[in-house]
Amino acid sequence: MVQPFLGDGPAETAYELRVMASPTRAAASRIAATGAYAPAKVVSNADLEKLVDTSDQWITERTGIKERRVAAPGEAASDMALQAARRALETARLSADDLDMIIVGTISADMPLPACAAFLQRKLGAKNIPSFDVAAACAGFIYAMSIGDQYIRTGACKNVLIVGVELLSRELNWNDRATCVLFGDGAGAAVLSPATDDTGVLSTRLHTDSSLAESLCIPAGGSLEPITQESINQSRDKVNMIGRDIFKVAVRNLTSASRDALDEAGLTANDIDWVVPHQANLRILSQVADRLEIPLEKFVLNIDRYGNTSSASIPIALDEALRDGRIQPGQRVLMCALGAGISWASALVTISP
Ligand code: ACO
Repeated sequence: MVQPFLGDGPAETAYELRVMASPTRAAASRIAATGAYAPAKVVSNADLEKLVDTSDQWITERTGIKERRVAAPGEAASDMALQAARRALETARLSADDLDMIIVGTISADMPLPACAAFLQRKLGAKNIPSFDVAAACAGFIYAMSIGDQYIRTGACKNVLIVGVELLSRELNWNDRATCVLFGDGAGAAVLSPATDDTGVLSTRLHTDSSLAESLCIPAGGSLEPITQESINQSRDKVNMIGRDIFKVAVRNLTSASRDALDEAGLTANDIDWVVPHQANLRILSQVADRLEIPLEKFVLNIDRYGNTSSASIPIALDEALRDGRIQPGQRVLMCALGAGISWASALVTISP
């Protein structure tokens, strides 16, 4: 059941797409396997103290981040995506030939054109299957999951590879202490396949409210403002962010999207075994946990080790928690993310055997 719905925000900017399992359609999708990759190079808060006027104490207290990974020179987003995708495919015991679609959530593709997914398709050795990017920033992985889930529910696809990958270290102004300390590089992937029982993707909810679009953006380098020497001098070709604005809306919207997903599924906070959230800021997540009345111990957290990897953060955290056995088959997982757009999303998934 797909329900276009005008949300609570201004009618011209707020939009929400809800997707719920429907008994009249083909099977929902399940997460058949996951994989993740983070580049080897670790950049600690102490390393950043040498670059900008900041401190380990400020970064740790304000964000929860202790270190992040940075891609090697010459390493592209599709290279990182490839590593994560191969691990997911190996775990699912599938080959690239078994895939029907590749969806990559990213805002830091190899090039503005073509899609990162096209390069990933070539590197994987997949042939002729639809392969495209979704630019929903930190919400990109849940957006990709929602789209993949739809193609499986309709029976149009069997196996869909969904990826969240970001190489934001190349999109940052390394002189701007307000942004350069926050982000890291990485990739996570999942294979979606048809569910064989009542586990799998229960629902996904996608939202965008463009009234704060400029609060987190890369102003130059697109059709509106082609790159000039002046835009480079002003770092308008890099991530610009008004963090305080995003913080407030993140707490509010992550809470409401999670609560709505639970209400709609007839579940309560007690029915959730794990929350796998986008890892932007530990203080945001603590406040969301308080408001949802879900203990922070049920949140899968790795922001201290990776920082904010945007669309990659949920699949990296999910992969870690599945592989180390924290998340078990049959358990119910809530995912939620918010990023530039402002786009945010939630997903409810029961982990399949
Ligand atoms: N080190 C030391 N001081 C700093 C640093 C730093 N790295 N960065 C900022 N400051 C200073 C500021 O200059 C300011 O100083 P002033 O009071 O003298 O002006 C002071 O710290 C407080 O700044 P705030 O911006 O108010 O700090 P805040 O507590 O809001 O924390 C932060 C900033 C961490 C960015 C927070 O606002 C945040 O996490 N926002 C949300 C970010 C987010 O979720 N983004 C969305 C996802 S990203 C995506 O979609 C790609």
